[in-house]
Amino acid sequence: MRTPVSGPDLLATFPFPYSADTYRYSTNLEPAGTPVRTPSGQWGESVLHIDGEYTHELAERRRILAADPTRHAVLPHMRIAAWDTMLALMTELATAYPATMSLTHDGETWHWHNELLSITQDFVVGDESSLPCDPLAFIAGQVQDDIVLLDQRDGDLFADAGVVTFAAGWSFGFDVGMTFLEIHGPVPGLRESGVITRAREFLMRLQPNQIYRRTNWSMAIGRTLDVSVETLPQRVPVRAALHAADDQTFGRMVHLRVEVQHLIRLAESGAICFLIRTYMLPLADLATVDAWRVRTAAVLAELPDDIAEYKGISGYRDRVVAWLLARSR
Ligand code: HEM
Repeated sequence: MRTPVSGPDLLATFPFPYSADTYRYSTNLEPAGTPVRTPSGQWGESVLHIDGEYTHELAERRRILAADPTRHAVLPHMRIAAWDTMLALMTELATAYPATMSLTHDGETWHWHNELLSITQDFVVGDESSLPCDPLAFIAGQVQDDIVLLDQRDGDLFADAGVVTFAAGWSFGFDVGMTFLEIHGPVPGLRESGVITRAREFLMRLQPNQIYRRTNWSMAIGRTLDVSVETLPQRVPVRAALHAADDQTFGRMVHLRVEVQHLIRLAESGAICFLIRTYMLPLADLATVDAWRVRTAAVLAELPDDIAEYKGISGYRDRVVAWLLARSR
């Protein structure tokens, strides 16, 4: 077996997204929390997942937020939902990682400890002066996931709060306040397919504390998490470099980028917390798992042009297919 480029845990917990040799958009929602076994290990046993990139990715989030405050917004009516989110995610962390995370309370005062980031914080729910920043920013600084909060009112869902630093080809600052259908407007054919209207009906019926998940995928050049609309101009030279790359460099530059998305109906506020956890694996590592190598080549070779175009991979998908097929043993 070839030596992986990434840390071993990134390969072992990679959420490989294809369940068949073809891919189409679908309302691929399932209850959260069930482990998924893969040829390299498993993923999905907890809602929040910490891996070897934890401190690096959170430093990256801090850098992006300091440079561009539009990645963070909480509309005034979402303040209860922000507290709700912080408590729900602290509970998830403490349950999944009891050796390093704990949440307890006596009376009104809560005690939070995150050993990995050396954070110890007492707070009173609803009192923002008891935290160093607003509750959504506080918890976003301790999970690798991007967070969007959806308010449900007038028979619709509105993305009215969030901290999103690792958007794949969209802009949180532009989308904030939009409805679920408006947000999905740029995806060609999605609305006509019925996928997004079915998803919206499903989400609006989620019951308190129910948690569902789905995966989504794209490809990226370089291990850059922030591929938002905002950073598009900065990324032009990297795309140009790909054309000149030799085969070995190509396999290390091109990444399969997978989002594990969770949807939680928050009990207090009734809002929906949408988590987007992004995983990236270079082709060089993907190809070390033969079943993944073969399936990815099949999916990309068959992918309809409009989906490839929307995902921004039309210019290099043929080379990815050829590269993967050339690695057969
Ligand atoms: C729960 C069911 C959901 C389904 C079935 C769904 C489906 C999809 C699909 C198929 C795409 C195109 C992905 C691609 O090819 O890369 C997409 C994009 C997107 N989704 Fe969703 N989604 C869901 C939930 C959400 C939620 C809750 C949000 C947050 C408010 C969201 C925000 C987005 C955004 C911002 C994009 C990119 C749109 C753009 O290009 O501007 N999605 N979604």
